[in-house]
Amino acid sequence: MSESKRSTWGSNATFILAAIGSAVGLGNAWRFPNLAAKHGGGAFLMVYLLAMLIIGIPLLMMEISIGRKMRAGAPGALRGLNKKFEPIGWAATSNAFVIVTYYAVVFAWVIMMAAFSFKFINMTGDNQAASSLWSTIIKTTGTIKGFDTISIPVLICLLVAWGLIYYCIRNGTKSVDKIIKYLIFLPVVCLGFMAIKGATMPGAMQGLAAFFIPDFSALSNPMLWVDAVGQVFYSMSVMMAIMIAYGSFLSDESNIARDGMIIAFSDLAVSLLSGIVMFTTMYGTNLEEMLAQKSGPGLAFGVYPTAIVNLSNSGVFNAIFAFVFYFCLCTLAIDSAFSLVEGISTAFSDKFGTSKKKTTITICAIAGVISLIYATGGGLAVLDIVDNWCNSFTLILVGVIETVAIGWFYNTNKIIGEINRNTKKIKMPKLWFDIAVKIVAPISLSILFIWNIWDLFKNKGGIYGAADGYNITSNVLAGWAVFALCMLSGFIIPLFARKKKNNGDSSSED
Ligand code: PHE
Repeated sequence: MSESKRSTWGSNATFILAAIGSAVGLGNAWRFPNLAAKHGGGAFLMVYLLAMLIIGIPLLMMEISIGRKMRAGAPGALRGLNKKFEPIGWAATSNAFVIVTYYAVVFAWVIMMAAFSFKFINMTGDNQAASSLWSTIIKTTGTIKGFDTISIPVLICLLVAWGLIYYCIRNGTKSVDKIIKYLIFLPVVCLGFMAIKGATMPGAMQGLAAFFIPDFSALSNPMLWVDAVGQVFYSMSVMMAIMIAYGSFLSDESNIARDGMIIAFSDLAVSLLSGIVMFTTMYGTNLEEMLAQKSGPGLAFGVYPTAIVNLSNSGVFNAIFAFVFYFCLCTLAIDSAFSLVEGISTAFSDKFGTSKKKTTITICAIAGVISLIYATGGGLAVLDIVDNWCNSFTLILVGVIETVAIGWFYNTNKIIGEINRNTKKIKMPKLWFDIAVKIVAPISLSILFIWNIWDLFKNKGGIYGAADGYNITSNVLAGWAVFALCMLSGFIIPLFARKKKNNGDSSSED
């Protein structure tokens, strides 16, 4: 860990914007509104806010502060706290690697839809054509077959996606410095434009009422609580090796307590703005019942195009709106995608002593080749399975282990000291931090993990996506095996590092 050569953020604002860029992603646009629609609007918002305050904010500050304290990416920083913690950092890093292989493909899809938005010009009122546009271009079978076919538009957009990701992160913090302000500003402008259109539609008020007014009866549904905790965790990009790496480039003078608050509330603000856009446009086009049913790509590529072609009688306006929407998703996705790459390359270059630039190219190249699988006819099904395991199992289990390790086997006073080092006004109180890291986070994440296992075995008969024709082999290969590899990577990767050290070899082995 060559501390003297470690790069730093150009300014504290760059760090804050980069962390916001990572946190604010597709999840804000297509997961948050769906959960709010499913769980009684304002009731979900309240629980989300609570979960963000109680668990999200302390965990975010914890990760940033251990990065800064140890001046290393996730594995190195956790190793700095206690040698035995290193594998937790590798599990998070490996999971981030798996996630970026498919996140890049999702990014490619939104680029593709932005490029094809002119097609909406001739689709006014044609729900059928609009809702099938995406699936006809990506040529998916929706099942575990068709790996010998590949969609050329997706392939081209995937190359563009990887090119853009690499371009943004090629010189680490230095290149992020130049573009990050646009990547934060542009989606907010796009969302603002869409919110204004949405708010002037006939059903807008009903939509806003459904989003903000709490249906208190929803609070008794345990799934609301499970989903709120999961969304806070996912949305704030914690336990993904990202925030530790970002923290490791921070100056000693930065105020983590204040910056953590800014990051968390900015993330929430974008979720709320996306919620306003989704609720007003879906109510305005009488598609409101779809909002609670569909999330993720199904919402953005299957349902939302139908809303777009019913927005107005002008095909040109609808097409412009489509472009703004998909362009907005591009700007949301890119900084989350490159934050994953940065988290991974920081971990590897710290451990193997390889140059940051070479490590970043290598990671983009390997992940780029792997991501081709999702561009094939069977890719969507594989993506669905991998995504389910990454987010419902690996991420959550890493969260449990990391919080137990730090909360119970490390002196949390040292972390609180690091968080509050440069703050006078806003301080992270010891009680709040300890309750969050030692008790609430491990317990709620364990419940989430157990629930996900229970749901898979009891409700789904042990096979995820059986209704869509996924079989046990695909679950084992794309789900369980990937999960096991991520969890064990912390015991495998250090062996390579040791071998490299023994050989005195200077070439990169990652
Ligand atoms: N926080 C992102 C979101 O809400 C999720 C994410 C970030 C996923 C970084 C992967 C990597 O969409």
